[in-house]
Amino acid sequence: TSTPPTLIMIFGATGDLAKRKLYPSLYQLYLKGSLEKQFAVLGIGRREWSNEQFTTHIRDSLMTASDNHDHIDSFIEHCVYESHDVEDSSSYIKLKHVADELDEKFDLKGNRIFYLAMAPEFFGTITDHLKSDGLTDNQGFCRLVIEKPFGHSLPSANALNDQIRQSFPEESIYRIDHYLGKEMVQNIEVIRFANALFEPLWNSRFISNIQITSSEVLGVEERGRYYEKSGALRDMVQNHMLQMVALLAMEPPISLSTDEIRSEKVRVLRAMRPVEGKEVDNYFIRGQYGSDYKREQKGYRENDNVDSESNTETFVAGKVMIDNFRWAGVPFYIRTGKSMAVKSTKIVVQFKDIPMNLYYNKEHSMDPNLLVIHIQPDEGITLHLNAKKTAQGIDTDSVKLSYSASSIDGINTPEAYEKLLLDCILGDATNFTHWDEVKHSWSFVDKISDHWEKTKDTSFPNYFAGSMGPHKSDLLLEQDGFEWWPIGELEVDE
Ligand code: BG6
Repeated sequence: TSTPPTLIMIFGATGDLAKRKLYPSLYQLYLKGSLEKQFAVLGIGRREWSNEQFTTHIRDSLMTASDNHDHIDSFIEHCVYESHDVEDSSSYIKLKHVADELDEKFDLKGNRIFYLAMAPEFFGTITDHLKSDGLTDNQGFCRLVIEKPFGHSLPSANALNDQIRQSFPEESIYRIDHYLGKEMVQNIEVIRFANALFEPLWNSRFISNIQITSSEVLGVEERGRYYEKSGALRDMVQNHMLQMVALLAMEPPISLSTDEIRSEKVRVLRAMRPVEGKEVDNYFIRGQYGSDYKREQKGYRENDNVDSESNTETFVAGKVMIDNFRWAGVPFYIRTGKSMAVKSTKIVVQFKDIPMNLYYNKEHSMDPNLLVIHIQPDEGITLHLNAKKTAQGIDTDSVKLSYSASSIDGINTPEAYEKLLLDCILGDATNFTHWDEVKHSWSFVDKISDHWEKTKDTSFPNYFAGSMGPHKSDLLLEQDGFEWWPIGELEVDE
């Protein structure tokens, strides 16, 4: 895909996200020819760096992230650095000059993307200045990309949104949820709406429950300061997990336009049954990891910048009910946590049992049909069916049909950020979150966090690092007659 000329201004250019994700993704787009001659990257940061220091920094990032080093030199010719004070108008005026010069040098037609890859407390200040100091008076398009977290609660997200909207209209705001850039997350709607096979069954008559797990092996590491204020509910559930729920549960949109898809997702988020007060304890389980069995891994409370009696959850399991015609009575179980046994994101759609099992015998019962969507690290789909055991007599066996998206020869699935950056340059906001989605998901999550903040969990730490979370998360499903499918064993066959 060729792109319009664009100046990409990255605030937070010396930071971790830019180094790990943004430069490698832009370079990948450059290698693929999506960015050709008419683009420039203006790195902006507090540090007094020279252009040389900046380009060395980018080179380091690309040497590690990419196997192809042949075009690094020519890519770097498009990158310039400007040190900056976010509070100071004269700093923005200087930035405007540099931007204008780059516009001219690379013939960028005045198209600009402002990418805020930095601490959220500065988002509002920066957007105010971008407007008042004339950086948004450019001729071409003007887009704002914002990293999470978008607020800390509904009121704070609202205040942030009101402030940003003074300078950018909603259609120019690209709120990143990097899960929406993942290949198999984008595939959810295709699997659902491009197959005659699933859509007729995709409802409470045939589906018994849906399980979404996103587990991580790493603990919070150096992010204690951020995580203490956030916790797993705000860090993962408010955004990534509820976005996956919305994609799984939404009605077929009338077209694939950004507005149509977003409005269907919003309707799901609005239909989520609110859970509040004491009821939270029946629907949502929180966990915090201690050290592992062998005491080799640190417990959460032993990390830097973490309170030694912290009440912050590093694990959440929850039951989300969607009160609409399609989903009445079908639990969507979600589960996410740090320091767990496997790094894996999977969705398991469990179908109801057949009305009468002709093949049941005492030795074994029959497994339900499952559709498993493998988001990461393996990418693909498996469909679990029952078939005849190859032997005398009619006995059944569970068999698996597998599609592995990552085993197609020569195709490396692009990194989420690469896809999202390209979407933004192309002006496609479908895989970014609209304010209405943010608003409804905060409103759901706030009720849970309110209850948790009022009630300390005295059982913390309540799971071992390296396990699949607290036992209470198993009970959550057991009380409904289900259990978590063992995601470590549900691999897609290559
Ligand atoms: C981020 C969270 O949004 O997602 C992190 O802030 C988390 O805490 C990360 O580790 C997980 O992303 P991925 O792509 O590794 O599943």
